[in-house]
Amino acid sequence: MKHEKGRSFYIHTFGCQMNQADSAIITAILMDGGFRVAGSQEDADIVILNTCAVRENAVERITHQLQFLRGAKRRKKSLLVGVAGCVPQHLKREMLEMFPVIDFLAGPDTYRNLPALIGDAEEGKRPAALEFRIEETYAGIDPFREVGVGAFVPVTRGCNNMCAFCVVPFTRGRERSQPFSAVMDEVRRVVEKGYGEITLLGQNVNSYADPEGGRDFASLLRAVSREAPGCRIRFTTSHPKDISPDLVDAIADSPNICNHVHLPVQSGSSRMLHRMNRGHGIDEYLETVALLRRRIPGVSLTTDLIAGFCGEEDEDHEATLALLREVRYDNAFMFYYSPRFGTAAWKTLADTVPLAVKKQRLQEIIDLQLSISAECLQEAVGSVVDVLAESESRRSTEQLMGRTGTNRAVVFDRGGARPGDRVSVLISKASSATLTGVNQGVLPAFYS
Ligand code: SAM
Ligand code: SF4
Ligand code: F3S
Repeated sequence: MKHEKGRSFYIHTFGCQMNQADSAIITAILMDGGFRVAGSQEDADIVILNTCAVRENAVERITHQLQFLRGAKRRKKSLLVGVAGCVPQHLKREMLEMFPVIDFLAGPDTYRNLPALIGDAEEGKRPAALEFRIEETYAGIDPFREVGVGAFVPVTRGCNNMCAFCVVPFTRGRERSQPFSAVMDEVRRVVEKGYGEITLLGQNVNSYADPEGGRDFASLLRAVSREAPGCRIRFTTSHPKDISPDLVDAIADSPNICNHVHLPVQSGSSRMLHRMNRGHGIDEYLETVALLRRRIPGVSLTTDLIAGFCGEEDEDHEATLALLREVRYDNAFMFYYSPRFGTAAWKTLADTVPLAVKKQRLQEIIDLQLSISAECLQEAVGSVVDVLAESESRRSTEQLMGRTGTNRAVVFDRGGARPGDRVSVLISKASSATLTGVNQGVLPAFYS
């Protein structure tokens, strides 16, 4: 095999699941180009940081790594350091001046160029490939995934939504969808490789629009569900404005589509949602929540929240707390607002909320949500749930850890089960983040 002779590489992945999926694409491209995967960063000839720019600590997070790599380069002169993903796409060539240790930069649409970029970097050219390529979906590349139970399948790239706070449209470019046939080919490959869970990915996954036959996301989801009847199907991230009744029906009707919707709300105040350019108010959001709960009994909802966006007043913050009490999300990713260069908020809105107030509001949001999450878990005690076993539990080799379709972590006695099995578990105990239960037996591989 040609890659066994090549130089070795190691990828550090930061950020969202899109970046994790992209690291699998980068790995496939480099292996095809004759490079091989290094066992560790220390062994690698090339280290690539695949970066995230979504919050303002983005550069600090990689600075530490780059300092470490500067030391490593002193010890091993031939080491090459590349930075890929959203940070170089945001900061452009300026990164090369900020960090002399960097040998090459690659934005999210230029990974097919990586073998050539590395060749140029070996000649000391410090190349930067940062152009957007609207046609690039990496169709035809078979991602090299880590061994595990779940596989990510990107179905859209980029984002057209232009939420006022968000840098993603500037780091990932305009939205484009994978052709339906390419998604289905990828799903078939994933099934053949024996994965038990498929997660369809996109920054705004439910605005999927097939460039070949015009299928929408609900239609794609139904087709994937039929093609992979022995896999659980997840999808993320859904934008609330693009949840159609047909999509809700698809989830309700298909036994292998997980009853979990991640539905970022960002704020409980319609005034803030308007400023954020989210494309909906809180009433429409609550109607969508009601529809989901009506059609999909037991559906689990999770969300993203931002505390202290530009112009947020106490009453807006109170509205967010009230929303949390009303919807009772299973879980949430919670952040305080950080201004991002180039976004609409950066250009046109004043960052009015002092940092101490942002932090205090965020803490109130976290405290409330943690207590709601704990109550949701407590309510599950006594129920029997369908768990996809993922791995041995960290505490004991006699226990397995897995997730319910509603995305709750469950630890249970191994019995005869192995990672990848569907297991029926009687929940006996709930802690703040995990359920513990008793193995009731392995379930059939096919969902019905
Ligand atoms: N596409 C998804 C959506 O529409 O919700 C999520 C995209 S973003 C990668 C993930 C989350 O980061 C957002 O939902 C938001 O809560 C948070 N986020 C994005 N920009 C932010 C900023 N400037 N400050 C704080 N949080 C931010
Ligand atoms: Fe960012 Fe909004 Fe697009 Fe999500 S939908 S990636 S928050 S612009
Ligand atoms: Fe971060 Fe880029 Fe994802 S900014 S959240 S890695 S799309």
